[in-house]
This record gives sequence, C-alpha cells and structure tokens, in this order.
Amino acid sequence: MHDKAFSIYLEEDAILEGVKKVAEQIHRDHAGQRVLFLAVLNGSFMFAADLLKNYEGDCEISFVKVASYHGMSSSGTVSELIGLTENLEGRHVVILEDIVDTGLTLKKVYLSVMQRNPSSLKVATLLFKPDAYKGDLPIDYAGISIPNEFIVGYGLDYDGLGRNLRNIYKII
Ligand code: XMP
Ligand code: MG
Repeated sequence: MHDKAFSIYLEEDAILEGVKKVAEQIHRDHAGQRVLFLAVLNGSFMFAADLLKNYEGDCEISFVKVASYHGMSSSGTVSELIGLTENLEGRHVVILEDIVDTGLTLKKVYLSVMQRNPSSLKVATLLFKPDAYKGDLPIDYAGISIPNEFIVGYGLDYDGLGRNLRNIYKII
C-alpha cells in the first residue's frame, strides 16, 4: 500500500472477539438504560457497525468528527468537534473510537461532550496503545491493547487507503 509493505497483525476473528467483548461489557454496565453511541469518524465506522450488531440493549447512534487545522498562530494545531447536534442532557453516552493512541483526539471529544451535561459518559475503543497514551481520562472499555506500532485496516487508514480491509495489518 503506497510505499510500504504490511504483514497481518490481527485476524478478523480476533477483532470480532474484541468487539463482542466490548459490546457485552457496555451492555452489562448500562442495563435498563438507553445508550447513545457517539462514533468518531472516519476510522470508527466499521467498529461502530459491528459493535451495534452485537449490542443487545436499546441504543441509538450518532456520528461526530474531529477537524484539525494548522492555525497561523504558534499554538500549532487546533481541533474542533463537528457534527454534534444531539441534545445530550440526561443521556447515557458512550464514545466509540477505533484507536486511542496519545489520547488527544479522545480528549477533544470527551470535553465537548461533557459540556453538554450527559447523565453519564463512558469511553470505548477497539484498539488501545497503552505505551503511547498520555491522557488522564479513563478508557472504560478497550477491546484489544496493542504495542506502539502503526496499524491499518478495519476502518483504519494509511494515508487514505486500507479502511476496507477485514484484518488489521502492521508495517513491516
Ligand atoms: P491520538 O494520538 O489523538 O490518535 O489518540 C488518535 C487518532 O490517530 C489516528 N491513529 C492511527 N491511525 N493507525 C491508523 O491508521 C494507527 O496506528 C493510528 N494511531 C492513531 C486515528 O485516526 C485515531 O483516531
Ligand atoms: Mg487516519
């Protein structure tokens, strides 16, 4: 893909096992509640689809996106959460991320959601890189913890390509 070679890292079966585990844990913790999943695009679309197919309680889903700009000031990159039109007051919200790396993206989403006074807010990610994580927010549900390596497939891209792959690959 592009200029790099990739080798298989997680097979579809292992990924789906991680997805099911997360779906069951969320359901167990939200018994009798109606959950609003907020999936962070683009990467989480495949995880979100499989997670909802495996979620046995009442739920709704909405999609958000983090847009980053390189501003003209020295402060570097600024980001903005777009697509959050839902009224979150009184809702039980679960953020769905494909991968939590440093945790900066998650923090942006989390704080924006928190400002809207949900009844509860939890974080679910399919993939988690504990060695790269610099955040202080709890990762309530993590499907699969992985080493600090760049991976692609199952929604995750390498410069736009690879989101359609069923398995997850790493650069060799
Ligand atoms: P942070 O560092 O903010 O990163 O937690 C989160 C976002 O960065 C992307 N990301 C990756 N994308 N392979 C990818 O294809 C990776 O190994 C990887 N690590 C981070 C991803 O978009 C995620 O939402
Ligand atoms: Mg990407």
